[in-house]
Amino acid sequence: MKVHILKNEAAVALAVATRVTRLLAERPSAVLGLPTGNTPVRLYAELRRRHRLGKIDFSKASTFNLDEFWGLPWTHPASYRAFMEEHLFQHVNLAPRRIHFLNGMAKSAAAECAGYEAAIQRAGGLDLMILGIGTNGHIGFNEPAPSLTADTHLARLAPATRRSNAYLFDGRQGAVPPTALSMGAGTILRSRAVILMATGASKAGAVRAAVHGQVTSRMPASLLQLHRDVELVLDQAAAGGLR
Ligand code: GLP
Repeated sequence: MKVHILKNEAAVALAVATRVTRLLAERPSAVLGLPTGNTPVRLYAELRRRHRLGKIDFSKASTFNLDEFWGLPWTHPASYRAFMEEHLFQHVNLAPRRIHFLNGMAKSAAAECAGYEAAIQRAGGLDLMILGIGTNGHIGFNEPAPSLTADTHLARLAPATRRSNAYLFDGRQGAVPPTALSMGAGTILRSRAVILMATGASKAGAVRAAVHGQVTSRMPASLLQLHRDVELVLDQAAAGGLR
């Protein structure tokens, strides 16, 4: 794992935006895996800014978002789709047909997940998966557990994860859906390159365990140690536990 420790959140966002800008300049039809959450907010702001200035072109790119709450329609303000519309999709020239999202209202979760895996394959696989990390080490909604599911699946949220997503539901943890659709650990590891962004002291323990700890399903981010092209882009606070 390559670890970059930068001064602050703003520097993390700039570094990852530059990586995306370079990728799309070299390969305009690149396939991106995208995260939601607080961590990438500044990244998306920077991508919007660069797009306004004509410095990045998404017209041939494809995107696949990492996860979505099960049971929420895209029109729900707390859905991850709504987040992406607000922070990126409405502001850049992505072709709507190349924006891929898990549908939390699908009739069958199994069919939705299988269809998503097939769509990723048809697109040629992910070129770059950008991830955040949960305070408990989850990636996407792959929660610490005795075993993990490789492919996109319906996942049960850990109490800590429902707590940290409560801000999307006016602070009401009970309103956070108990399950979500998520790319699996295998979906993520099949991406040709992976970037994990982490900022703030609350992530320091998970980052430390992911980098220095054993590879275990009890710390899902530790599985990234198995991938040959992973970069962690951290601010100083998130890197606080590293040796
Ligand atoms: C959420 C999402 C993850 C995200 C993580 C961290 O529950 N399912 O995809 O990376 O938690 O979120 P944040 O960036 O807000 O800390």
